[in-house]
Amino acid sequence: MGIDHRPEPTVFVIFGGAGDLSWRKLIPALYNLYLDHWLPEKFLIIGTGHRHTTDKEFRRHLREGVDKFSRRGQTTDEEWQGFASHLNFMAADLDKPEVFSELAKKLADQDKAWDAKANRIFYLGLPPRMIDPVARQLGKARLNQDRKRSRIVVEKPFGHDLASARALNRTLGEIFLESQIFRIDHYLGKETVQNILAFRFANTLFEPIWNRHYIDHVQITVAETDGVGNRAHYYDHAGALRDMVQNHLLTIMCLIAMEPPNSFNDNEMRNKKVDVLRAIRPILPEAVHNHAVRGQYGAGSIEGQKVQGYRAETEVAPDSSIDTFAALKLLVDNWRWEGVPFYLRTGKRLPAKISEVSIQFREVPHQSFPAGAVMDWRPNRLIIAIQPEEGIFLRFEAKYPGLTMRLAPVMMQFFYREAFKIAAPEAYETLLLDVMLGDATLFMRADQTEVAWSILTPILEVWETIKPTDFPNYAAGTWGPETAETLLAQEGRNWVTPTILQCQEDQPVCRVTTVQP
Ligand code: BG6
Repeated sequence: MGIDHRPEPTVFVIFGGAGDLSWRKLIPALYNLYLDHWLPEKFLIIGTGHRHTTDKEFRRHLREGVDKFSRRGQTTDEEWQGFASHLNFMAADLDKPEVFSELAKKLADQDKAWDAKANRIFYLGLPPRMIDPVARQLGKARLNQDRKRSRIVVEKPFGHDLASARALNRTLGEIFLESQIFRIDHYLGKETVQNILAFRFANTLFEPIWNRHYIDHVQITVAETDGVGNRAHYYDHAGALRDMVQNHLLTIMCLIAMEPPNSFNDNEMRNKKVDVLRAIRPILPEAVHNHAVRGQYGAGSIEGQKVQGYRAETEVAPDSSIDTFAALKLLVDNWRWEGVPFYLRTGKRLPAKISEVSIQFREVPHQSFPAGAVMDWRPNRLIIAIQPEEGIFLRFEAKYPGLTMRLAPVMMQFFYREAFKIAAPEAYETLLLDVMLGDATLFMRADQTEVAWSILTPILEVWETIKPTDFPNYAAGTWGPETAETLLAQEGRNWVTPTILQCQEDQPVCRVTTVQP
């Protein structure tokens, strides 16, 4: 995250190299790093897959993915061929130990050919049940031994609950040092998520008021218009709380709530984030209904198109009780945040794809204006828009023009696209480069994954024991179930309607609108 040089010679082994993640995300990200001259000269990607294929066929398949998903659009022959010469396929049945000795030999031969000791990145783009056995095989083949250069990257879901996450951490910890383990939460690689750090800690302006004395509450919304798609085999056993809150939403909350770090050192940053998680007040089983709301979408319409309900989706159980929406109220028991609720919500089939943080400030302590001046008076609000467009907005009161004193809220607006005029890298570009550089700042440490699971465990347990009787309880294309509104309404608050930023490539100025339900 802060290192400004190219990595040492590197072999990047993608287990599951012919799979969807590799096709949509990893290879497009590596390709863009290549075009931006971030990859070392001595660089090799080995993708493993159980079905036999040739290097040529493998490269052709990956090129299709890059053409479809790269932020740069279609590849050119020359650029693609330069990159593709670094791509190899290895047919591998990962249940067989000899595959790993063959890999170890390949890597040793490559070191000899390069006359260098290369970084070895083992990227596990595999179903969760494969992580444990593949990590063990890597250990048996002694591919974990170079403590400085061998690294393992593990995708989410990191466990299914606290016990399985602990077991996985234990296995990985027996084979690799913590400094060799990179647990990915791709939200940490997003530019705007990282910008929360810049905004908070590179400016003097906000930090003094970033606390319970000035902030009334915080809202974090991560909304998606997509339904479950073709991922029900995983999602129908996970649900929104596990899939999104346990990692992405808690990650964002940590960056909003953490104390200023002493430095950008990876452990220092991670300590500060874990401190937030540890300070979250445990939710007792009998209080779950006051803190957590679940929902599941029924049929409805998204952007004018009719869509089916969750239970009618492919591979979903017809009586599924899985949550496709979750909203939580969390409290942070420390000096800075005592009494300030953090409301988190996420869901599929909501009216817009949008992620944003809304910081709601307290009312002014004394109202000196005459009653007639403050008819449209509203407390300050800071909106950090994370995606799809990125920006920061501050709502404050101004004098409405005229001969009398009347106040009206106005917005001060900052749009990334307007300010910097360059395309931001994709989250995976940042994260893969960091893995190659050995910088773990943006990755989850073992304790962070475990504390995050322990916060959610009481909710998961109650939800599993008491099945919902009202599912589906929101129509696709709405902002979730009524009960999510009640969660805030009972405290005299309401969810902020997310702000949509409309920026177009060919237009210099962006527009702000709100999405109506
Ligand atoms: C993934 C979840 O981690 O994040 C998906 O498993 C979700 O269910 C996705 O759709 C959202 O990511 P993004 O980057 O599109 O907000």
